[in-house]
Amino acid sequence: MKDKFYVTTPIYYVNDIPHIGHAYTTIAADILARYNRLRGNQVFFLTGTDEHGQKVQKAAEEKGRAPKEHADSMVMNFKDLWTKLNISYSAFIRTTDEQHKEVVQEVLQRLLDKGEIEKRIYSGWYCTPDERFWMQKDLVNGKCPDCGREVEDIEEENYFFLMSTYQVRLIRHIEQTPHYILPETRRNEVLGFLKSQPLGDLCISRPKKRLPWGIPLPFDEEFITYVWFDALVNYYSATKYLSPHASRLTPHAVDWWPATHHIIGKDILTTHAVYWSTMLMALDLPLPENIFAHGWWTVEGRKMSKSLGNVVDPNEMVNTYGIDAFRYFLFREVPFGLDGDFSEQALIKRINTDLANDFGNLLSRTLTMIEKYLKGEIPPCPLLLNPPVPPFSKGGLGGLSGGRGGLNDISSSIDLHRVIQLKNFVESINPDFDFSMGRLSFNHALDKIWFVINDANKLIEDEAPWNLWKAKNIDKLSAVLYTLAESLRIIAIYLYPFMPDTAQKIWHQLGIDEKIGSAIYIVWGELKSGQKIRKGSHLFPRIEQKNITRSL
Ligand code: MSP
Repeated sequence: MKDKFYVTTPIYYVNDIPHIGHAYTTIAADILARYNRLRGNQVFFLTGTDEHGQKVQKAAEEKGRAPKEHADSMVMNFKDLWTKLNISYSAFIRTTDEQHKEVVQEVLQRLLDKGEIEKRIYSGWYCTPDERFWMQKDLVNGKCPDCGREVEDIEEENYFFLMSTYQVRLIRHIEQTPHYILPETRRNEVLGFLKSQPLGDLCISRPKKRLPWGIPLPFDEEFITYVWFDALVNYYSATKYLSPHASRLTPHAVDWWPATHHIIGKDILTTHAVYWSTMLMALDLPLPENIFAHGWWTVEGRKMSKSLGNVVDPNEMVNTYGIDAFRYFLFREVPFGLDGDFSEQALIKRINTDLANDFGNLLSRTLTMIEKYLKGEIPPCPLLLNPPVPPFSKGGLGGLSGGRGGLNDISSSIDLHRVIQLKNFVESINPDFDFSMGRLSFNHALDKIWFVINDANKLIEDEAPWNLWKAKNIDKLSAVLYTLAESLRIIAIYLYPFMPDTAQKIWHQLGIDEKIGSAIYIVWGELKSGQKIRKGSHLFPRIEQKNITRSL
């Protein structure tokens, strides 16, 4: 039985136009989904949109549309961007889906029946644009501390989830499960918050007369449920009707709950680590394995905001620089979990150094030499490089055993130590790569790949294949070029989660027709000798700043 791997993104407010922040979270989840498919795991990758609440209702009214109609038109902004960014999501949930609403109502009823929900008088200062209540002490000059706008004094009845009863249990769970909240700094923040003050109960409803655009409470039709309660349940409801073999659709139900990773931004950590965790406890459902809160992007040192006019549109970045360069940059530039600063200069620098120079040149030089010296055919794999060793490390991407490259028994009088070094290097990165991916340490995983790329480039300098050609040392020349081509084939597999198109293009140029995508076990020597390469254009041409027409 394959391992199940269930990864989620936040569901995005349907009113927003997707920006680099949304793209960042979603690409991270895509990297994990693709990596897990490569490992042969059964993957469920969920994304979607958060469509209820006052803001959507208001925006729809301004456009003279029904809220659902407005949401339908906005959802396309996300779906189109995910197609453009090569996001391999398995399902797209919308909180307006009928089945989602049913699950939310079931959950509410269960909680009420168990005595986890209570009706109370609620009073406080309400900020209508933010849909949030504040206490007197929170206000800044009598205004909303978040957006600075006027607040209203409101007193009304509402339903509360008795979250406070779970405070001790939640602290214990976080303390006993070191990987529950990552990175560790965020885990400590949540623990600090939970230990320093009593946890309140959570208001989960709004009166329908004030906010009709939501899911009606099954036990009181005067009320709808409030956005966060509705939104968080998406991670669970999707497993009931959108996952492969979902339990509502088939008698052979596969239970996809709990999630392996909830990938979120640091701003929504409390809602996930505290609200969602305690809701699950109250429902007697298992908690997710991990909640990972990544950092925020600033733009050229400033907070990204509509008013500053510096919101980075991922569509524009992809149109100018290409999908894979953009995906690569986001995860190479900044350790996942920390804040980062985005600038087009930094992106161009990465493209020119890492992608055009280091990686692109390696591919293009290797293929040019195979074309020029070996009539465009992959040479035989030297026997010396292929000792029959049993496979190792089950479960990882790596493996080492005799491949089917077509063996060439060249005499041991040829000095192949440098070639063997590269082969060993390629094979040695596997445990480190898996370790980094397991910790969502994407920049370290990419570092490992680049160590190999740099060593392969150095091999070309060390062995100078053009001199081997001049000296008619064809055996050694073949050994060098086979090793370079085979290293590139394997590098493509490691790169695939980050740069799926590029990885496939590398294989195509090496003459391989198979698709990279699922259950690959890396075996040195699989590149077939005699196979015709298909050298194409340079994958990452250098970018001259003057060639960028948009203002930088
Ligand atoms: N609808 C809620 C989530 C509900 S999940 C049950 C929501 N939506 S959102 O549209 O505001 O999207 C939030 C996601 O985008 C968060 O993960 C947030 O951290 C991320 N980002 C928004 N701006 C960002 C940056 N400047 N940088 C990185 N990510 C940021 O919250």
